[in-house]
Amino acid sequence: MEKKQKERKGHLVLVPCPLPSHMSPMLHLAKLLHSQGFSITVIHTQLNSPNQSHYPEFSFESIGGSMLESYSAFDGDVMLFLSELNMKCETPFHDCLIKMQLCSQYNPISCIIYDSVMYFSAAVADDLQILRIVLRTSSAANYIGLSILDENDCHSTQECRLEEPVAGFPFLRMKDMPLFSTQKHTRKVLTCIYNGTKTASAIIWNSLWCLEHALFEKIEDETLVPVFPIGPLQRYSSNFSTDVLSEEQSCMAWLDKQAQSSVVYVSTGSVITMSKDELLEMAWGLANSDQPFLWVVRDCLVNGSDGVEQLPREFHESTRSRCRIASWLPQQKVLAHRSIGCFFTHNGWNSTIESIAEGVPMLCWPRVGDQRVNARFVSHVWRVGLQLEDRLLREEIDRAIRTLFVDEEGIQIQKQAKELKKKVEISLRQEGASSDFFGRLVKYIRLQETMISLSNA
Ligand code: UDX
Repeated sequence: MEKKQKERKGHLVLVPCPLPSHMSPMLHLAKLLHSQGFSITVIHTQLNSPNQSHYPEFSFESIGGSMLESYSAFDGDVMLFLSELNMKCETPFHDCLIKMQLCSQYNPISCIIYDSVMYFSAAVADDLQILRIVLRTSSAANYIGLSILDENDCHSTQECRLEEPVAGFPFLRMKDMPLFSTQKHTRKVLTCIYNGTKTASAIIWNSLWCLEHALFEKIEDETLVPVFPIGPLQRYSSNFSTDVLSEEQSCMAWLDKQAQSSVVYVSTGSVITMSKDELLEMAWGLANSDQPFLWVVRDCLVNGSDGVEQLPREFHESTRSRCRIASWLPQQKVLAHRSIGCFFTHNGWNSTIESIAEGVPMLCWPRVGDQRVNARFVSHVWRVGLQLEDRLLREEIDRAIRTLFVDEEGIQIQKQAKELKKKVEISLRQEGASSDFFGRLVKYIRLQETMISLSNA
């Protein structure tokens, strides 16, 4: 431990959120920064703590104790989870940093990099006068959405005039904003995330300049802090691992047998659930489309119970020859497969950029939070997909899949998806925008370290 810390220059404390879709980009970022000579300490909760054996080069400190162990974020109310998480972590985080500052095993902390939803980190860092940089694991469009809701004093679906266009963004409607239900704690959490972001010294984004440069310029003008869009972070190291290897192998072997760009890949991420009616509409929409499909039905997808069991026998019989269902797959590997022709997605940000990075057109069915604004950008700004409106209907799914695969509109979308993929590849090259911003981020942190050590001298 002593050795791995001391031989490196600069010590970064990273604070990931325990939700898997947030944890993953932070750990990818940690690996990247470690490759630049920084020592890394990851401060995590007991709940969903990272597998330390995968990261022998980092130090880990737990602040969760048992207080979050019994709490499941997957009970449905993510905002309530975040509210509790932030309340319960602030004091242990403060104590942990004090302990680290006193302990000779650690170099002095150069900077805290925290997930924007772990906003308690901002107050603690300010209190201890440590530089803080925020990581946004969602799109710049989502942040702009939060700022629009803030300006309009409106955070819930009940308060907004949903069909009205958003001033300054004519292609967006109020209902595309990251609205949540009208729970008391929701507004507070969203405001804290927003404030904890705009007051940081710098903002790192798991997004790309080529996707959202106009928004990044606007954010930089408004916050007066540098932004570093260095995504997609997933592309720098491997995907979520899957424990169900046999399932993965059989699905990949099945994909190998399918025609080029013919398969609809269906996944709704790691958090959301759906009703049995929605499951059946999705199933019959896919079945009626006549395309082969690979469908991730998580064990608790249908209101917490096993969705596959709820699919009728007729569905299995009519789709047997052209369908595979799995409980979890290595998504990036699937999206990169030559047989995938479309991604039917809920537009979580990770899924959205993974699809863009692989040039796969999307069929968007956004549900909550950032997913709506992501879907609107996919369909109306980048034009790499079609959006289904809120109520899932089998006829609409069938029609949209046929449009994406056969119609002129779909062919244009396929072309555009390939173009965008090229732009992402260019961004990731050594001289590309994401690599360039990463280089600037490293220089920025080094400069801040120098200034701090000069002011302490
Ligand atoms: C949540 C929110 O729902 C989302 O709106 C927000 O942008 C991030 O936090 P989640 O719903 O899990 O995320 O969706 P998403 O961001 O798309 O992340 C899912 C991740 O799980 C992706 O990285 C995807 O590659 C991975 N995945 C999903 C798998 O590896 N295998 C699967 O079978 C399904």
